[in-house]
Parts: sequence; structure tokens; C-alpha cells
Amino acid sequence: MVNLNTIKSDKNWSFADVSRRETRYATHGYHRYPAKFIPQIVKKIIIKYSKRGDLVLDSFGGCGTTLVESKLNGRESIGLDVNEVAVLIAKAKTIGINPQILEERNKSLFERISNNRDFNNNFDNANKRLQYWFKPEEFNKLMIIYNCIQGEEASKVRLFYNCCFSNILKNCSIWYSKSIKPMRDDSKKIAEPISAFTRHLDYMVRKNKEYVDLLKAKKVEDVLCQMKKGDARKINLPDGHVDLVVTSPPYVTSYEYAELHQLSILWFNFADDIKDIKKDFVGTSSRENTRRNINSVLAEDTIEKLSKKNGKLFRHVSNYYSDLSRCYEEMYRVLKKDKYACIIIGDTEYGNIKIPNAEVTIELLKNIGFDFKKVIKRKLSSKIFTPFRDKSGRFTDAKHGGKRKIYQYEYIIFAKK
Ligand SMILES: C[S@@+](CC[C@H](N)C(=O)[O-])C[C@H]1O[C@@H](n2cnc3c(N)ncnc32)[C@H](O)[C@@H]1O
Repeated sequence: MVNLNTIKSDKNWSFADVSRRETRYATHGYHRYPAKFIPQIVKKIIIKYSKRGDLVLDSFGGCGTTLVESKLNGRESIGLDVNEVAVLIAKAKTIGINPQILEERNKSLFERISNNRDFNNNFDNANKRLQYWFKPEEFNKLMIIYNCIQGEEASKVRLFYNCCFSNILKNCSIWYSKSIKPMRDDSKKIAEPISAFTRHLDYMVRKNKEYVDLLKAKKVEDVLCQMKKGDARKINLPDGHVDLVVTSPPYVTSYEYAELHQLSILWFNFADDIKDIKKDFVGTSSRENTRRNINSVLAEDTIEKLSKKNGKLFRHVSNYYSDLSRCYEEMYRVLKKDKYACIIIGDTEYGNIKIPNAEVTIELLKNIGFDFKKVIKRKLSSKIFTPFRDKSGRFTDAKHGGKRKIYQYEYIIFAKK
């Protein structure tokens, strides 16, 4: 077994000097997304472990960081995610729209918005959950913007607007934004929807231009890039198809992605009820025991410890490891021989029991048949990530009394088929 406590963090992979602004270059800052990669890591992996024209897969594709970096570096890419909001964002981030066309379409969008400003009778018929999160005034304005967006004929431009719209929903609601759990903040200063949309659209327009210019300068406009709704446990690709996997699975006991994206999921009608889709997410707490044999002694030990302490968590973690094992088997199947999977993962902790995701990953990969090559420990930059939480899961700062420090490190695991 690899003992990760004894390895030192590698400064070459910490990107401690990279500012938050630099992580948001090109389209990377279009939409917030929990636990997204910093693009600098993905770029470094892609350059080292693949060549131009290769096909890169991210089976937990999230908001598309791997896809944007693959395209900018001349690699074809496929991204999968069960979260339709992730699919929407990743598609918007990778398309690149002709800036002149965008400017014309924007004029026409804002004309439609100002001609429809007095349209305000939607709130009472809205989904009950949306009524819980929005106040009528903002809801009705958002509905005007949303309807005007759907009137846009060009599908790429409509996608771009929908991504912008999705990103402003939290600020225009009473969602408490400094928490990793859905919480209301009744005293919140709510953003005015039309100005919030206009501001974020201006930002995205500038970033689209930066992205399009980069694609042109690097002569990679035509490099293929596909983001699809899909399940990492059952990848719809043939055996031996991809040249590199770069991915980061969700962490157990951490983010419930379906919950965190519920405003967009409900608004875009991706589901009527979040409960209906939560069970599809790896790492979710809301599923009956689906555990099968997990080929890792460390995973079994951890599950055994938890079973004595907390029945619900025991089920949660055993489902998680069982799911992870299926995902890694799929990565192995779709990779070409002699090619690499690079998995970025951190450990978590619950009630003083360490949940050693990285070591379990290494053990699972070896038992599936991968040739484990190396693991890099990297310190997360506090410039980019707030590592403190209070007891309820809200972000807090280093001065806070009851704070917990989490996720100081993550691991990049390299394994070859
Ligand atoms: C740590 S995030 C990945 C973030 C990504 N690296 C990025 O830069 O945006 C993990 C992702 O796994 C997705 N996910 C959870 N269960 C999944 C499944 N069964 N199949 C595919 N994706 C899944 C979540 O929706 C989430 O987007």
C-alpha cells in the first residue's frame, strides 16, 4: 500500500503564484462551479501526457475545464457529466462565438428585454421550490430575461445566454452564497436581475473574444470537443478509444451537486424535483445500499470503521467506493494500451475518521490492472480556495473559533494501462 503521509507536497504543482484572475483566463470564469480544476494543472498534464491530435476524456467533466484546455492545446476531447447544468456550462465555454455576430445578437436581445419589461404574472404559477428561493419581484424580472433568451434563434448564442443566466440565479435569489449547503439568507441584499445579467454578459462577451483570439492564434478552431450528459460508471465509448483520461471525481461527504445547482436545474426544467436525479450522482447521500464487492482492503477497513459509528454514513461511503470502482474500470476499458489516466482527488474526514480517497484510488487502480506510476501531493492555494468551514459547512476564515480546516492537499495520481 502507498503511504501518502510520508510524501512531501510538490511546489511545482501547487501553482501558489497563480492568482484567481489568472485561473479565469479565456472562458474559465463564465460560471462558478464547486471544486473545479485550476486550468494550469490540466494544461500541464495534457502537455506532458498527450500530443496534438490525441483524444482526451474527462468522465467527471464538470464545467469543462479539461475540454477548454484540451481545445486550446490542440487535443480533441470528450467530457461527460450527469449534471445537465455542467453540460450547459461546458458547452458554452468551449464553443467560441464570432464577436461581431454576438454584438448584433446582444442588441436584439436587449431590445426584446426592454419591450417586455411589464410582463409580471409568473411567480404564482412557479415551481414551489423556486418560490422558496426567489422573491416575486426578482423572479418576474428573471422570467422576462429567460423568455427573451429563448427567443434567440442561433442555438450557440442561446447557449451562451443561458450560461450567463444560470450564473446570476444565486445572486438574484435569497440563497446564502457563502455556504456549501443550500441555505436561505432572508436578510440578503438581492441583485437586480437585469443589471446582474447585463454585467455578467459584458464580462462573458470580453472573455469570448479572448478565447476566440486564442483559438485563432493557436490555429485550433476546428479541434473537436464534445460535452455530453453521461454516467462515468457506464461510459458510452468503445474499448481502447481514448489517449488520456484527466478527471477529478466528486468527494464523498462533500458537495451534493444536484442540490447546489438546484436553481438552474429547476429553472431550466432539467428535473421537476431534485430528489429524482440525486441518486445518479457519485458521492450522493441519497441512495439505498447499492454496494458490491469493492476491490480495496483500505476501502473495506474504512467502511467497517464507519459502520460502528454512523449507519447512514456507512451506506453513503460504501456506495461511493463501489461507484468509484466502477468508474475506474470504465476508464481502464476505454483507454488505449500504454496510455495514462490522471486522477485528481483529495481525502475527506468525518467525525475524526479519515476517508482516504487517494489511497483507495491507488489500490483500486492497481487491482483493476493499471500500472500505478506515481502520485503527486499538491497544496491547495489559499489565494484560490477558502479552506475553512464552520460547523454548519459555511465558509469562514482562519480567525473563526470553531473552524475546521479541510482539503489542504490533493493528490494527482498517474496510472498507465
Ligand atoms: C469535482 S467535480 C469535477 C469538476 C471538473 N474537474 C471541473 O473542472 O469543472 C465532479 C463532477 O462529477 C460529476 N458527477 C457526479 N456523478 C457523476 C456520474 N455518475 N457520472 C458523471 N459525472 C458525475 C458532478 O456533477 C461534478 O460535476
